[in-house]
Amino acid sequence: MKQVTIDTFPSRKRSGPPITMVTAYDAPTARLVTQAGIDVALVGDSLGMVVQGMENTLSVTVDEMIYHTRMVARGLEGPLLVTDMPFMSYTVSKEEALRNAGRLIKEGGCHAVKLEGGTEIAPVVRYLSGAMVPVMGHIGMKPMNVHSMGGFKVQGRDAASAEAILNDARALSEAGVFALVLEAIPANLARTISQTVPVPTFGIGAGPHTDGQVLVFHDLVGWTSAPLPRFARAFGNVADVARVALAAFRDSVADGSFPAPGESYPDGPVTLPKLDRLKTKRKG
Ligand code: KIV
Repeated sequence: MKQVTIDTFPSRKRSGPPITMVTAYDAPTARLVTQAGIDVALVGDSLGMVVQGMENTLSVTVDEMIYHTRMVARGLEGPLLVTDMPFMSYTVSKEEALRNAGRLIKEGGCHAVKLEGGTEIAPVVRYLSGAMVPVMGHIGMKPMNVHSMGGFKVQGRDAASAEAILNDARALSEAGVFALVLEAIPANLARTISQTVPVPTFGIGAGPHTDGQVLVFHDLVGWTSAPLPRFARAFGNVADVARVALAAFRDSVADGSFPAPGESYPDGPVTLPKLDRLKTKRKG
């Protein structure tokens, strides 16, 4: 697959086809994402919930993001690799933000970073972009704001909140983001933003009018055990396939049919009695 870069996107925004982005947290998933011809692999901080089993994404660290990015980078060939900057890794100071973004790129191997936040993070986005760090924005429902939002809630439903999100999109675009994720906002607001900003938009729970769509891998392959949010679709049922395989393994071990002769190595020259003699000799 031809390497996707941030330069791939402007023409795709103009004339399609819509851009696809999927989360990946390890090398085998990255290989599947590559084989499927997905445009962007996102090492999302959603790994805190999806992989680590946490209630939200707040505890994820830069070191953990680097660890997972490295794994994804090893399995990926072609898609753009974007990594989330985790909570508090870019808001303390812009120097620290640059240091952390630099680590994700140099140690992790991603091509770009994604930051959640609106107008308030425009200065840090400008600073990172000025230091040649490609930045993807993330507005609307920002999972890092789970406590200040009072839960994971759809945003932009009233006029004031919709206006604020549109302003976020404008401010981030002017600050230099190369793309924007729009999460959990009404479809008409996502359409307005997509028509207003020059950069491509990726929707997740933002309706059909964005320039691309993004989903969490585990949700889309049917691996997530919790009920899916309204906007996610399971296009497969990997969990059921895994359950069937696990039960078959358990039963085959129980009835002795696994491992079969073809799944065992042929006997070698050393027989058990000889081994026993060896042990006795050593003891003596
Ligand atoms: O962390 C994540 O997986 C994300 C996507 C949901 C866009 O930010």
